[in-house]
Amino acid sequence: MPTKVRSHAKINLGLGIGAPRADGFHSLCTVYQTLEIHDVVTVWAKPADVTSIRLTSNDERVPLDERNTAWKMVSLALEDLGSDLGTGAEVAIHIEKRLPVQGGLGAGSANAVAALVGLETELQPFREEECGLSEGSSSWLDFRQFSQKMGVPEHAGSNAGNWPGRQIDLAAQVGSDVPLFLVGGAVLGRDRGQAVFPLPDLDPTWCVVAVPDLGVSTPQAFRDWDGLCVREGLTAEASEDRLEQLSRAYANAFSGGIPEGRQRSGSSGVFPNGEDLAGPLESALVRTGITSWIQNDFERVVFPQHPSLAEIKRTLAASGTPEAALYSSLSGSGSALYGLYRTRGDAEAAQSRLEQAGVRNQLTRTLPRGAYWAEMLL
Ligand code: C5P
Repeated sequence: MPTKVRSHAKINLGLGIGAPRADGFHSLCTVYQTLEIHDVVTVWAKPADVTSIRLTSNDERVPLDERNTAWKMVSLALEDLGSDLGTGAEVAIHIEKRLPVQGGLGAGSANAVAALVGLETELQPFREEECGLSEGSSSWLDFRQFSQKMGVPEHAGSNAGNWPGRQIDLAAQVGSDVPLFLVGGAVLGRDRGQAVFPLPDLDPTWCVVAVPDLGVSTPQAFRDWDGLCVREGLTAEASEDRLEQLSRAYANAFSGGIPEGRQRSGSSGVFPNGEDLAGPLESALVRTGITSWIQNDFERVVFPQHPSLAEIKRTLAASGTPEAALYSSLSGSGSALYGLYRTRGDAEAAQSRLEQAGVRNQLTRTLPRGAYWAEMLL
């Protein structure tokens, strides 16, 4: 039986970027937040003498070879698993694209983690049977054990040192924003974005994702940022200090932002469809206070080049109106933008404004960690 895995999108709730580093990367400080919208990744696998990976997709823009993040992740994991399994594996992966490709929503990175989860789920019975492993005794990624851990709210405030490091390391080799999908919910991202720290979750919040037709190249956006650093004299040292302060501010806001007894998302975070979750209660997002000070540094280089994206942000924001967004921003380096709203009605009003402007968009909600793991397998 193939395993079907939901592969969720993320947004960045603010993104601080440092000056370029000697290793070619940039230090970051961000909060990643997973969303309900997702692709579906189907994995079929069985042990075989020689490892083979076959990739298919419903979207012709998805590369079907070793350039694909799901391919990279599975091939790294099989190398790592090889010693346990004593053999290779025959793997088939199908990626059903529902999210925009290259949109700043981390879709490709999420596909990598979904493929890993699918691979583990598929191979676990063979490993228990053929390697004499009892359930949960595995030294490799044991998805069931791992997901249970991730789903327990008490773990939400702990630090990354407590998380299984092996698969996070593998994920970090695939891309800087892959490990966050091994945590889910609200996640502090540091270093080049791959160092992940689970934060206490926000209640599900209504979100509208705008998907402009134009694409933004992430490496180019980083190069443009480098130009801005030179012009403004931003040194690596000064930017590290700034990112460290930002990191502390996020941690304080999230730990102090959710009073005892108000963790409404409980162990699953699942609410009946259509319930107006954010209002009339004050939004958890507002309680953290972060919307008053977070910003995405990429906007400083992407908006001057693509003024239409700044215009979409204004459309999402509707500042000064009763339906104004709690916050709106570019996600990652774009080109996707998002708005967060107090009520479903406010979000739908934003959708109408975008539709009038001819901008494609999707209505969704933020997805807490418990629900992320509880709903991952279809
Ligand atoms: O890690 P990932 O493969 O996503 O990075 C793609 C490119 O984006 C890197 O080669 C680098 O140019 C840039 N990048 C960066 N700083 C980061 C993450 C990515 O400069 N923190």
